[in-house]
Amino acid sequence: MIEKINSILENINNLKASSAEEVEQIRIKYLSKKGEISALMNEFRNVPADQKRELGQKLNQLKNAATEKLAALKEALSANAESAMADIDLTRTSTPTPFGTRHPLSLVKNEIFEIFGSMGFTIAEGPEIEDDWHVFSSLNFPPDHPARDMQDTFFISRSPQDILLRTHTSSVQTRTMEANRPPIRIICPGRVYRNEAISARAHCFFHQVEGLYIDRNVSFADLKQCLLYFAREMFGPETKIRLRPSYFPFTEPSAEMDISCHICGGKGCAFCKGTGWVEILGCGMVDPNVLEACGIDSKEFTGYAFGMGIERITNLKYRVKDLRMFSENDVRFLHEFDAAR
Ligand code: PHE
Repeated sequence: MIEKINSILENINNLKASSAEEVEQIRIKYLSKKGEISALMNEFRNVPADQKRELGQKLNQLKNAATEKLAALKEALSANAESAMADIDLTRTSTPTPFGTRHPLSLVKNEIFEIFGSMGFTIAEGPEIEDDWHVFSSLNFPPDHPARDMQDTFFISRSPQDILLRTHTSSVQTRTMEANRPPIRIICPGRVYRNEAISARAHCFFHQVEGLYIDRNVSFADLKQCLLYFAREMFGPETKIRLRPSYFPFTEPSAEMDISCHICGGKGCAFCKGTGWVEILGCGMVDPNVLEACGIDSKEFTGYAFGMGIERITNLKYRVKDLRMFSENDVRFLHEFDAAR
């Protein structure tokens, strides 16, 4: 009998349970009325009197060991369950939510932010509903300039003063110059509005990023280097740039910038209409009249400015043929940019 007790004791010490059911089975096997320990208790009656003392103690030990083991197994199980619960987020939806995709314009905008951010430009924003001063007058537009015309500008009211939807984010540059002293180094992203018939190639609103840098001794060479760096970061290290003389009321001299066509590498293709170049932005040295209008001494400070359409840059990068795709929210179109995220 002593051997039996010892072997059961050993079994009990080695017991493991991974569920409440297993614990219950162990209880039945050892501690229930028909269990192994009860059977031993029954046998105990027949044990000769001189062995009763020793065996009785042993049996009690066994029973205690089994009871303790059972309690320990139960506790281990509930501790496990608690730590498993701690990993469960009960606020999560039971079915996984499919992720949306970033809009291609946001992807390109973020890339533009990163490139200019690495050159020390910070982001400045302003209102979409503007007055004449910030969109036109402060920027040296003559009173009869065609851009003020009803054909281009959406006016909200015309008296007592013109209130309109901004046609470019240069208005944010004016606001920043009015509120800050140089050095100023900002990029102004945002939506702009122009009264144009909607087609594959034009829309009544689009997105711009304009840049402005004002400090002592800022030169056209600084502008050129900054834009060359931008073009190479955006379109690849082989990219070349070309500046063509142009006109904007707020810059003098003004230029338009082309990049070498990244599709044919400058050889000439249908995309660049055989020229090897594609236009990407307008730029120039800030006209002294603009600096003075914003309270900056044009004898002490100079600056450059540039502006580009995000749709245009996105088209060049991803060749979206129809501008309207950008604002239709067709998920099939948006999912095409999953890989670019
Ligand atoms: N504001 C111009 C536009 O909307 C772009 C531009 C910005 C040109 C700054 C030169 C300098 O087309």
